[in-house]
Amino acid sequence: MNGVSPLAVCSAALPIDIRPILGPGVALDSPPRGSFSRAELVAALREADALIALLDVAVDAALFDAAPRLRVVANHAVGYDNVDVAAASARGIAVTNTPDVLTDATADFTFALILAAARRLGEGEALARSGAWLGWAPDQLLGQAVANRVIGIIGFGRIGQAVARRAAGFAMQVLYSSPRAVDVAGARRVELDQLLADSDVVTLHCPLTPATRHIIDAGALARMKPTAVLVNTARGPCVDEEALAAALERGTIAAAGLDVFEKEPSIHPRLLASRKVVLAPHLGSATLEARGGMARLCAEAVAAVLAGRRPAHLVNPEVLSS
Ligand code: DGY
Repeated sequence: MNGVSPLAVCSAALPIDIRPILGPGVALDSPPRGSFSRAELVAALREADALIALLDVAVDAALFDAAPRLRVVANHAVGYDNVDVAAASARGIAVTNTPDVLTDATADFTFALILAAARRLGEGEALARSGAWLGWAPDQLLGQAVANRVIGIIGFGRIGQAVARRAAGFAMQVLYSSPRAVDVAGARRVELDQLLADSDVVTLHCPLTPATRHIIDAGALARMKPTAVLVNTARGPCVDEEALAAALERGTIAAAGLDVFEKEPSIHPRLLASRKVVLAPHLGSATLEARGGMARLCAEAVAAVLAGRRPAHLVNPEVLSS
């Protein structure tokens, strides 16, 4: 853009002004509102030193080819499955993410979906607004109890553990499945099949990797209780939506709460049509505090790399040796 100051490109407008964090020596190019289209982003990256990317941007080799000066990708999310980290490392480009600042927001939202799905809040809200509600009835919209039940947490990192702390307040028994054992009082690590069979609520908090793509498929759903509630605030492709729609239609499980989808922003038509699903448009981290923190971490990472310092939350430390 100016050939003098390093240039940072942000793929979308952020809720806070990050220019003071980038510092006076760094120019910023970002859309005034909304997001850059792919073509706009590619054009903007031609002379860019840094990219702040939202999770809907495929940060891949083609994008790197269009950005020969790029030194850092600050991914505006804790999950970075949208970034080809190997391709970045091969080019000596640092990749960072935004953990911690969104942990509580995402865990709170997970509990909102657990309660909403288990207690049929979506159907209740629709009935209350419809004008067709005839009044209190003893058998109206009966749901599943949450307190004192078993919660199965798939992926037991920061967010999974924050969900476990909330579950303790509901006197729930906590099971988790994770590649690593984690020492958390009151939480028991079990094999995935046992977690699926024993849990009243199954909630996903794993990253999207080849091993977790469709970790909830037809077979996994068949192992769950017919009264079980499935919640996904992780990544859409962790759940086979076609299989979930079929399981809900057949009564294989009772309900689902979904914040993420296989092909965002599209939602599987049979899930859209299902009264047993509570839907949200990827809102897990949507608090001012969390989104402000994510923007701040991205800007700090860019400022660090452009100043020749190691950024916090570097996901490919191997670039430091290159
Ligand atoms: C993340 O950070 O990975 C969330 O999905 C977006 O907040």
